[in-house]
Amino acid sequence: MNSIVVTGATSGIGLETVRLLAGEGYHVLAVGHIQTHCEKADRDIRAGIHDAKIEWYAADLMQQREVIRVAGEIKSLLDERGDGKLYALINNAGCARSWYMTTEDGYEQQFALNCLAGFLLTHELLPYLLKAKGRVIMTSSRSHKGIKVHWDDVMLSKRYNPLTAYKQSKLCNILFAQGLNDLYASEGLRAYAVDPGLVNTDIGNKTAGIVDFVWRLRKRHGVSPTVPAKTYSYLCEHTKAPTGLYYYLCKERSYSKQVTSESAKRLFALSGQLCGVHYGKDAKR
Ligand SMILES: NC(=O)c1ccc[n+]([C@@H]2O[C@H](COP(=O)([O-])OP(=O)(O)OC[C@H]3O[C@@H](n4cnc5c(N)ncnc54)[C@H](OP(=O)(O)O)[C@@H]3O)[C@@H](O)[C@H]2O)c1
Repeated sequence: MNSIVVTGATSGIGLETVRLLAGEGYHVLAVGHIQTHCEKADRDIRAGIHDAKIEWYAADLMQQREVIRVAGEIKSLLDERGDGKLYALINNAGCARSWYMTTEDGYEQQFALNCLAGFLLTHELLPYLLKAKGRVIMTSSRSHKGIKVHWDDVMLSKRYNPLTAYKQSKLCNILFAQGLNDLYASEGLRAYAVDPGLVNTDIGNKTAGIVDFVWRLRKRHGVSPTVPAKTYSYLCEHTKAPTGLYYYLCKERSYSKQVTSESAKRLFALSGQLCGVHYGKDAKR
């Protein structure tokens, strides 16, 4: 049975993706933030899919020590129960913030969770993904368009604008997928970025301030999270992995011209410094 890790699994897009993938018979390793939210999501899914194969993990992925801890638990399970293969990793956990806030590592929170958590988790699970010739899927957003990476101050600490920080993090998600393909597509790994569209979730209401206010109005126009869940399922289902980079509603779409292999390399170097890890050609198990 193919195993798939999904982060941000307890609500919104992640929850509906876990439900769909579990219903399709995948073994889902679902990562949430808070234990009680994991328990609630588990009950919710099992009410409809009694024999769902889901393991739950709780971790604050904003903190790098927590990413390493949960990756360790996932690796132990893959080693013990399976063949050491991870079919797919869906880096979906994300947040929005109204003002500059930092993690215990001292990093701006949107950048830490939306970008660095996926970078580090993928690094930790890479040997398992390579062994499976697996897939990495990033939850990006169309809001990545019309923005550049602020390389001189990537966390916008000198002049913080929460929307710019969010958009930039979503641009970095595509750059990360591009960089993974540049490094590992020749070894059978494929990486993608998904634009979920405007989705009616509570993402903007988990923070106080202007973002909470604006999101309450904006999300009313959003679709159900069951809609983007189908794109993750589509990217997982094909026996032959699709070759595009950026997908919306199960179709390849165009993305910002800011997405280049050169910028992807730069993001890998910067994220590697910030996480203390290095991606290389020697990651096989
Ligand atoms: N909604 C949209 O219109 C839209 C559009 C484009 C892209 N996206 C992206 O879609 C992804 C999912 O968002 P969503 O809209 O489905 O919102 P959501 O319902 O708030 O889902 C976010 C998930 O991430 C988890 N999370 C938050 N902080 C975390 C932390 N520190 N550590 C671990 N997990 C954490 C949340 O858990 P808790 O609730 O327990 O904290 C939740 O499970 C995000 O990457 C977002 O940027 C959303």
